Amino acid sequence: MFFGKKQSLVGLDIGSHSVKVVELEAQANKSYKLVNWGVSQPLAEAIVDGEIMDRQLVTDAISNLLESRGIKTRSVVAAVSGRAVIVKKITMNKLSAEDAQQAIYWEAEQHVPYDINDVSLDFEILGQAPNDPQQMQVLLVAAKKDMVMSFSDLIREAGLQPSIVDVDSFAAQNAIEANYDLAGDEVVAILNVGSEMTNINIVQGGVPYFTKDLQVGGATFTEAVQRKYNLSQSEAAAAVRGESGPGLEVTPVIEQACEGIATALDRAQAYLRTAGEAGSITRILVCGGSALTPGLTEFLNRRFRVNAEIVNPLARIQYDPALFAGQDVMKVAPLLTVGIGLALRRQGDKR
Ligand SMILES: Nc1ncnc2c1ncn2[C@@H]1O[C@H](COP(=O)(O)OP(=O)(O)OP(=O)(O)O)[C@@H](O)[C@H]1O
Ligand SMILES: [Mg+2]
Repeated sequence: MFFGKKQSLVGLDIGSHSVKVVELEAQANKSYKLVNWGVSQPLAEAIVDGEIMDRQLVTDAISNLLESRGIKTRSVVAAVSGRAVIVKKITMNKLSAEDAQQAIYWEAEQHVPYDINDVSLDFEILGQAPNDPQQMQVLLVAAKKDMVMSFSDLIREAGLQPSIVDVDSFAAQNAIEANYDLAGDEVVAILNVGSEMTNINIVQGGVPYFTKDLQVGGATFTEAVQRKYNLSQSEAAAAVRGESGPGLEVTPVIEQACEGIATALDRAQAYLRTAGEAGSITRILVCGGSALTPGLTEFLNRRFRVNAEIVNPLARIQYDPALFAGQDVMKVAPLLTVGIGLALRRQGDKR
């Protein structure tokens, strides 16, 4: 223990649009301080559907980003999502934690559509099934070994050491739980709306009841506006950010593009109700760069008649305002949610 030396925690969020880095320092009294953050240049088409198409471009973006921000820590926490992971909640006979391990592997074989030898399996026993005291619920997280390996290698190629590989939607949940007091009976839909992907995670009392990744995000909104008004990509992107002049009615186009997210939430809600697991969604928290899309939270608010708001992952994290000099913190913070959730992970954390 080096007296007075603060521990640096680095979260690295590698998205299809950009790489985000967050550096936190643990403070006395269990709080955290943001000491550094950064967003890389746009990655163009280097990552498509969670698959790395141009490794060099991504590793260069990562190392340039850390270098430009002066981040010296080499050990980072990162996350995979998309096709690399399957998250599934299963119900099985109640067993002790020791006996459960073997049985869960066996159960997993029937729930995971890959050869069980090709996935690394993690699980968490959630507790008794709501309808049957003899049964328990288990959250299975199966990650394709080859994809996680290739992702870890990518981080090493950038000169870093991946200490934990987490899952995007769990990292978003982690960041939110560290910054919000969520009541035990609240059913919260967390939406991480990125560029190509939206991670849905419906949480109650700290338990992820339903997770799904949809191929919808800022890029989808831009394409829809581009098609409708015959604009260039950059003109459409500006319109989606609410930066175009009058005359363009982008809100209905974006709302139509968001219908896929709303439909997925409808289905999740119906599934949770019939499974007797949770009631209706009572709150929607939106993070990721596209959370800032004008009209998105209003649309969700109207559609679900619950409070839908943009996440502030810095609500309880200290920082020097100079870190955001010249920028509106609230326009940057939602983008950093996953990175913050990752930086808050500790070695030995489950899930
Ligand atoms: N102010 C804004 N208004 C609307 N959209 C924005 C704004 N700022 C950023 N975006 C959009 O956010 C998206 C990038 O968000 P984010 O960094 O969360 O995505 P990503 O993690 O790189 O991608 P993914 O997770 O989908 O692979 C882009 O589509 C960008 O256009
Ligand atoms: Mg992302």
